[in-house]
Amino acid sequence: MQILKSAKSMQRLADNWRRRGKSIGLVPTMGALHEGHVSLIRRSAKENDFTVVSIFVNPTQFGPNEDFSKYPRAFKADYAAASGAGADIIFHPSVIDIYPPDFQTYVVPGAIAERLEGAARPGHMRGVATICTKLFNIVKPHRAYFGQKDAQQLAVIRRIVADLNLDLKIIGCPIVRTKLGVALSSRHSYLSETDIEKAAVIYNSLKLAQKIINSGQRDILIIRKRMMALLESVPGMTVEYISFNRWDDLQELKTISGKTLISIVVRLDKIRLLDNTIINA
Ligand code: PAJ
Repeated sequence: MQILKSAKSMQRLADNWRRRGKSIGLVPTMGALHEGHVSLIRRSAKENDFTVVSIFVNPTQFGPNEDFSKYPRAFKADYAAASGAGADIIFHPSVIDIYPPDFQTYVVPGAIAERLEGAARPGHMRGVATICTKLFNIVKPHRAYFGQKDAQQLAVIRRIVADLNLDLKIIGCPIVRTKLGVALSSRHSYLSETDIEKAAVIYNSLKLAQKIINSGQRDILIIRKRMMALLESVPGMTVEYISFNRWDDLQELKTISGKTLISIVVRLDKIRLLDNTIINA
């Protein structure tokens, strides 16, 4: 496995692969790789001739008071994880290469990016949209792999690809969880073992919602209240939002109908944790 640092050398390699008729898979990441990332890399390696894993902690998707500078960086372990999962290239550019001083062009997604994380983290989706579009132009993939863990991100990227006629396929992949059901996250490195166990209540409340919906309940106020009570029974946990959105365009719902994204964001001892599920009512 090779490490490439410059956009130009990555583009040259991608051109060479494409000239030879090879297919390219891209797995965009910010590093601190875990089994969730690894599942994406494995899938790409299975479905493409070459797999590129990008590792870049993208400053434009962090707010001024967020954790950009202390976001976990673990390049050595990431190298081993990516190579073990079948990656061919790690694309690991520097911030200055991606955002030179005269940089001034952004990709600004529409309404789909303004709810949920877009509302909670102003500018976040613009940063994600911009870096992913740049990565698509640098790596020139036929397929790019995203986790449902960040469901809105996946929906926004699909929208951009459709709206801007980008010539690649977006593959959404299932959420990888611990035995207790906690969705794996690079930010778990900020938490103690006990806190990670406590976080299992997030998945349990998603399962509770599914159960209530299966029993015929469609009123979101009632479902949310029961989820809230379960989540807030855990000491140190505060709920930032529980949201119900139509899956295709992320419109906010008042009653459950059709394919619905249920998203939860909590803070556990100040650390922000996300989880979600998509149900078909
Ligand atoms: P990062 O948080 O590193 O995640 C990289 C990819 O891994 C995303 O597609 C994310 O949804 C997926 N992922 C994370 N945890 C997962 C889990 N438990 N199960 C399955 N997939 C999981 O998301 C980003 O980076 C950035 O926003 C990025 C797209 C790289 C742009 O900077």
